[in-house]
Parts: sequence; structure tokens; C-alpha cells
Amino acid sequence: MSAIHIAILGLGTVGKGVLETIETHQERLQYLLGKPVKVEAVLVKNLDKHKLEDSSILLTDQFDDILQLAKLDVVIDAIVGQEPAFTCAKKSIERGSHVITANKEMFAHHGKELLELAKKHQVSIGFEATVAGGIPVIQTLRKLLNVNRITKIEGIVNGTSNFILTNMREKGLPFADVLKEAQEKGFAEADPTNDIEGFDAYFKALVLSNVIFGKLPEPEHIVREGISHITREQIQTASSLGLKYKHIAKLEKQGGAIKCNVEPVLVTDAHPFYSVEGVQNALSIDADIVGNITLLGPGAGKLPTASAIIEDLPHLYEKQPLKFFDDKLNSGEQQVKTGQWLLFSKDLERSVLEPYFAEILNVSEEAIYVRGLTESMNKWEQDYPVVKMVPIEGEFSLVKELLLV
Ligand code: HSE
Repeated sequence: MSAIHIAILGLGTVGKGVLETIETHQERLQYLLGKPVKVEAVLVKNLDKHKLEDSSILLTDQFDDILQLAKLDVVIDAIVGQEPAFTCAKKSIERGSHVITANKEMFAHHGKELLELAKKHQVSIGFEATVAGGIPVIQTLRKLLNVNRITKIEGIVNGTSNFILTNMREKGLPFADVLKEAQEKGFAEADPTNDIEGFDAYFKALVLSNVIFGKLPEPEHIVREGISHITREQIQTASSLGLKYKHIAKLEKQGGAIKCNVEPVLVTDAHPFYSVEGVQNALSIDADIVGNITLLGPGAGKLPTASAIIEDLPHLYEKQPLKFFDDKLNSGEQQVKTGQWLLFSKDLERSVLEPYFAEILNVSEEAIYVRGLTESMNKWEQDYPVVKMVPIEGEFSLVKELLLV
């Protein structure tokens, strides 16, 4: 019987998960695809570090060996970084193979080009695993919300950051200890800088931007900040005020521009992300017909990511190629916006804040709450770039109580 012939690039946490899943779910795959799925080859960087139980699979450190396979239907990219992943994806497509990728950095920067190339060569690309691990957000956006206009999407899309923030708060552990645990559990990237400095979440936001708006945000509308500067003391102060730190990536169309903010945010218990803990990811999608939809699930790790990859497999063989939306179809109103922020400072004079914010409250010895126009906040950031304010999302009941006094 003929088979679907597959090559896997990379045998780290994700590559191993894919190999294992193809074995454990062979029967279901065969039912869905009408043929068995056969892994023909696995590409690794260092042959000495890996061994495969199944001797019929070629283990190689040369991508050319993969390209020269007699039969190659699908190439699964489970490596990190833009190169050699981009070149491998391009050559696979040019050879006539479908590609499934989990590589957010590569796809954030080269996704559109690869999709065009794939169209030319009449093959497909699956990239569900690039965003939010096991949560099927890409398919939801591309297949299930087509008439709806997406006005905003925000998400906890980096499992490692959420795991670190949760464990620092719940167990009072230092940053470095929790990061080490995230690495041991296979959540963090090989170089965890991408996780803790917000790059990983930013790459995922870029992939989402292409899916929703058909283009990337302009550099002047991008904010990217990680979590490495957040101290245990700040987490505890926030906790005592009923707030939790979450690292949130937000995309919103405003007055013709796509605003992309990837940064730590404080959420109140009224916010849907308040109870999203550990390695969990969540996405909150605002669409103009349906309203708000929240998706929640495991954001990183071996099997959740393997799930996203393997679920892409049947979709490769669908007749109708999926589209990226044209930006013109997703207009955004320019609105006057207000916001609320927390400022960690023991000795800032009220008079310094007064020209900028309508409400100023000392909510603890170390923290000041302010509310005002987003525009005034932008001005504050220009005038006082070192005094960082953390946005608060959700109704802040403590402030409500204090204002009633
Ligand atoms: N390092 C990533 C995370 C893996 O922690 O979310 C999943 O993309």
C-alpha cells in the first residue's frame, strides 16, 4: 500500500513528540488520510547525540539527503531560528513537498513569501504550531471566522513566561530557578532569551498579524518588552493588590495602523486571563459579529506542540487553499482611549503625575495607581522614559473601593 512519506527536521522536544505521535496515532491518521504515514528520515545537527529505535528511518545531518529521498510528501520543520529552516522550507516546497512548521521566528519573517511559493508549486503549508502550542487558533482564525472582522486579539502566547510568573507568585521562587525548571520541562526555547525578553511572543504576534490583517505592523507601532526585569517584590506588591502579572501580546487595528503591544500587564480578577496559570496559553478574540471568543489550552511542551503539527497533516490535502485576509477588509476606527496603570515608586511626587493623569491613587507604600488618556500616557513615556508604568486590564475593585471612601 502506498504511504504518506514524511521527513522531520529536528529531534528536540518537538521532533520527538511528532515521531511518537505518528506512532501512537497511526490508525487514526490512516483513517483520515486513506494511507499510512511513514517517517522516512530525520535531520539532526549532531549524529552522535541521537539514536532511533526504528532502523528503517534514515538519521542524517545533511538536508540534501532529505531532498534526495525517492518519495517525500511532507517535510515537518521542528527546528528553531530563521536559518537553516527558511532555506529548508523553500527547497522542500520547490521539490514539491508540503511543509508543516512549528518555527515561529522563521514563519513570522518569511511566512508570506513561503505561502506564495507554495501556491506556485501547488503544495500547502501548515503553521498551526507556530502560535500558542496546542490551541488551534490559526485554524479558528483562518477557517472558522471568515466573515467576521477581527477587531482585536490578545493572548498569553508564551508558556515559559506564564510559567515563570505563576511560580514566582505562587511559590515565591526566584526567576532563575523557575526558568531552569521551564527548560527542564521542555517549555523554553534552546536560547530562553527569546521567551523571557518577549521575542517569542512577538514572533507569534507577527504570525497572527499576517493571518488577521494580511500584513505586519509598522516598526513604530510595535512595543516589545519581556519579563526578566520583574522582581519578586513587584509580583508580591501586585498580588497584595489583587493583581497578577501576565505577559500579553495584543494586536489591534486603530485608524489604519496595526498596533502590536507585547509586554507585561497587570490583570484583575475581572479579566479572562486572570486564572490562566503555568504553561497554559489563552487567546481572546474580538470579532464584529460573534463578539468575544476565548481559547484556552496548553501553550508549550512536547505533546501539545506535536498535536498542533499532526492536526495540520490532514488539512494539507484539502482542495481549497486558505487565504490571508486583505488589510482593507479589516478596518479599524480611531478611538479616544483611556487606560489605567500601576507605577512602582516610593518617592514620586503627586505633582509630577498630575499634568498627565485624571486619577492618581497611592494604593500601597510602593505603588501608585493612575488612570487617564492613552495619549497622555504616551506623552508620559516620552517625558519620563525610565519611570515605567504597567498597564492594568479589567475592573480594579480596590480602586473602586478607595474612590468611594
Ligand atoms: N518556548 C515557547 C513557549 C514554546 O514557552 O511558549 C512554544 O512555542
